[in-house]
Amino acid sequence: MLSRRNFLTAAVGVAAAGGLAACAKEDDSSTGSSSTGGAKTITLGFSQVGSESGWRSANTTSVKDAAKEAGYNLKFSDAQQKQENQISAIRNYIAQKVDVIAFSPVVVTGWDAVLKEAKAAKIPVVLTDRSVETSDDSLYVTLVGSDFTDEGRRAAKILEKVLTKAGHKGAVKIAQLEGTTGAAPAIERAKGFKEIMDAEHKADWKIVVSQTGDFTRAGGKQVMAAFLQSNPDVNVLFAHNDDMAIGAIQAIEAAGKKPGTDILIVSIDGVKDGFVAMSEGKINAIVECNPLLGPQLMDVVKKVKDGETVERWIKTEESDFMQDQAKAALPSRKY
Ligand code: AHR
Repeated sequence: MLSRRNFLTAAVGVAAAGGLAACAKEDDSSTGSSSTGGAKTITLGFSQVGSESGWRSANTTSVKDAAKEAGYNLKFSDAQQKQENQISAIRNYIAQKVDVIAFSPVVVTGWDAVLKEAKAAKIPVVLTDRSVETSDDSLYVTLVGSDFTDEGRRAAKILEKVLTKAGHKGAVKIAQLEGTTGAAPAIERAKGFKEIMDAEHKADWKIVVSQTGDFTRAGGKQVMAAFLQSNPDVNVLFAHNDDMAIGAIQAIEAAGKKPGTDILIVSIDGVKDGFVAMSEGKINAIVECNPLLGPQLMDVVKKVKDGETVERWIKTEESDFMQDQAKAALPSRKY
């Protein structure tokens, strides 16, 4: 179980300004932008990464439901995993003079220009799920999301248990399915995993092949099939998310091998389909990454709008699951 820790704080004082523009794949889950009982309805512009995974679908539902519950005027757009779509959605929100902009950045770099535009328009920006690298920390107020580096470390630690449980002896030849290139969870999960591997398993663990599957099932299947051709002796798969693990399972079975036995599998997320695969013995362990960020996000948005001080990084609480816990946990999984 992860604990919340090392919170930084940031003081914020905010207001709104702007103009007008347009963007593809946008919907407006408006509950009305007028006043309710004297308090002005908060207008939140939210730019989502896309719909690449089960995690993402659950996250989108959580954000939309929580905005409705909070009575916000939500302007939502799906960037279809393209940074240029997110940049134009953010520009659109600036032009529309929304009160707060929130977004889950598809990649970590390349945001300074648009974030400076939001700052100049006095519209506060809240990051959700993923972080960015900026030259100026004042360009966003806070991040609501997971510690991906720690998820990578937890994946390595749970792999130790998986290997012990399987009675594995000898070299550990790992295939790594990376998330979207340049995305915070891909960079940080790989980093956290390697950190433990280098510190504690240098002699016996080796990542023999590693490539992006873009966080999708199709990507996981295609890349795993290629891995099995080039490295037929891999005995462990570390997948940066459940969807890629599920795609990889199809490729492993197509190659005549038994996922969870011939190739031990650790993945990240904990979506229902991941738990189903784990209860069938095809995934050995899952490190949870909680997508239900909507309620926390709405709470932070209100505080930011009201000029309150908020933590610089609001971390998500998560757990880890071994295969023997899957059947019992499955009925109560919320996403
Ligand atoms: O940013 C979170 C990651 O993005 C999830 O692990 C993955 O499934 C999603 O696509």
